[in-house]
Amino acid sequence: MNLTLMAAADLEWGIGIDGKLPWLVPEDLKRFKARTMGKAVVMGRKTVETLPSTLPGRRILTLTRNPIGFGSHDLGSLLLHLASEPDEVIVAGGGEVYRALLPYCAKAEITRVKAVHDCDTRLLNLSEHGWTLVRSEPLSEVSDLEEWRRT
Ligand SMILES: NC(=O)c1ccc[n+]([C@@H]2O[C@H](COP(=O)([O-])OP(=O)(O)OC[C@H]3O[C@@H](n4cnc5c(N)ncnc54)[C@H](OP(=O)(O)O)[C@@H]3O)[C@@H](O)[C@H]2O)c1
Repeated sequence: MNLTLMAAADLEWGIGIDGKLPWLVPEDLKRFKARTMGKAVVMGRKTVETLPSTLPGRRILTLTRNPIGFGSHDLGSLLLHLASEPDEVIVAGGGEVYRALLPYCAKAEITRVKAVHDCDTRLLNLSEHGWTLVRSEPLSEVSDLEEWRRT
């Protein structure tokens, strides 16, 4: 299993408000597209429902407790599927999915939005859960790109 968590988070690990992103950071959206192209991407049912359309070139695996459609899985069937997946798979949120799959991720790429926004959904503070920040570089005027590894 080769799982990478990708998220944009503010300085207090906020990631969402009212079912949406709290900010618009075009550089992050561009990077997400490039980084996920050609890959399988895991998303929670709620996040999938916010997408304006399917994501061309990406294979979406939807996590749900009611897996009825093609590409939708409960946690057990998703983990079985991921265990036989040789390539990197991206875990792309939202909050519940990050919590469920964090123990299986080896690496996290966080777009750090350098402000505190009003948020009702958060990512766990990785530094308090056995992860270490190994690299940080500017992504845009308002964000840095951070790489975290499990220690
Ligand atoms: N900043 C970012 O990078 C980023 C990325 C993605 C999303 N977001 C934001 O995050 C928010 C949405 O997050 P959320 O936590 O409300 O929802 P979510 O994680 O997108 O989806 C939650 C749904 O996933 C399914 N699920 C979650 N854990 C499960 C488990 N252990 N087993 C089976 N199914 C499970 C359930 O679907 P069923 O109800 O169908 O059973 C649950 O209702 C939005 O504001 C969105 O914009 C932010």
